[in-house]
Amino acid sequence: MSFENEYYPYEIIKLDPKERAEVFKLFSGASCLIDDFVRIGPKGYWLPHGFTDLAPKIYNMAVRPDDIWVTTYPKSGTTLLQELVWLVANNFDYAKAEAIPLVKRFPFIEFAMFLNSEKARTVLERDAKNKAMLKAINEVIDQVSSMQSQRYIKSHLPLSLLPPALLDTCRVMHVARDPRDVVVSYYHHNEFIQSRGYSGNFKQFWNLFIQNRLDWTPYFENVKEAWEKRNHPNMLFLFYEDILQDIPATIKRVAAFLGKTVTDEQLSRLSNHLSFDNFKKNKSVNMDALKDFVFVNKDKSFIRKGKAGGWHDYFDEEMMQQAQQWMEYNLRDTDLRFPTVK
Ligand code: A3P
Repeated sequence: MSFENEYYPYEIIKLDPKERAEVFKLFSGASCLIDDFVRIGPKGYWLPHGFTDLAPKIYNMAVRPDDIWVTTYPKSGTTLLQELVWLVANNFDYAKAEAIPLVKRFPFIEFAMFLNSEKARTVLERDAKNKAMLKAINEVIDQVSSMQSQRYIKSHLPLSLLPPALLDTCRVMHVARDPRDVVVSYYHHNEFIQSRGYSGNFKQFWNLFIQNRLDWTPYFENVKEAWEKRNHPNMLFLFYEDILQDIPATIKRVAAFLGKTVTDEQLSRLSNHLSFDNFKKNKSVNMDALKDFVFVNKDKSFIRKGKAGGWHDYFDEEMMQQAQQWMEYNLRDTDLRFPTVK
């Protein structure tokens, strides 16, 4: 499949040397596979340089009416929503869900951007298992393009970097989470997947987040793009906190959105399947398979705490005030409100 010379409407800008040096002080671990970062378009979405080749391929990919996309800012409950959606859409086929890992059933469209660097190739090609994984991840976009319907696709990209026809063509679900819990979860994610070589502390990570220097930031721009479309008939916008509060109600909302009905028995079984404790043990969704990958920490877990409000244990007084101001500023021109933010 060729995507060469495809149209791309946005400017992709590399960091200037001063900013690059400043940022890489915090991505200085030996395991860092990222060689540079870029900013994209008028909102300046921050992504690894490896996204540059992928950007037009994703923007121009053909979408199909029966596609189902889950788009989120990372660490917002993506995996939980993906499994829920897939099972509802596939008539609760638990046997298939167990046999085929979620990453295969529901591919992550921009996955290759982390490994599209000279550093990554040099390190990963040393070992046969890692080399095979690198190849599989690099082929995700082509595979999705030739996949049989019905396709399930995950992305952390904002709608503006996805195919323009997406929402008018197929169904999209977005889950958002209190950004203070998102940043805590994201910080721990770096301990699990160490390929960014993050070497700073939590406070420095928080600062990167609000300075829009972490992948897929600016956080609020990303979420607001989906929020603005929440009344589009093909968009279902959810909050992680509401899902935790009432999983059966969320299952019913997703089922209604997909035009499916659910029996009480199906509801009860799926709620149980999605409970944090069961999810953590479930090898098809818990990403334990990634532990074969170099720089994935075998002592940590992808499914970590699964709670709302854990951020209180991480924020000092200064950060709480910064968060308050940052959220007020970013929510001033929208009616987006998080269930946990009063
Ligand atoms: P924590 O790190 O706060 O525990 P994503 O899938 O977008 O990467 O989001 C990951 C976050 O969702 C993690 O948050 C993870 O523990 C939480 N999560 C995953 N599965 C869950 C479940 N079944 N119930 C509650 N939270 C879950």
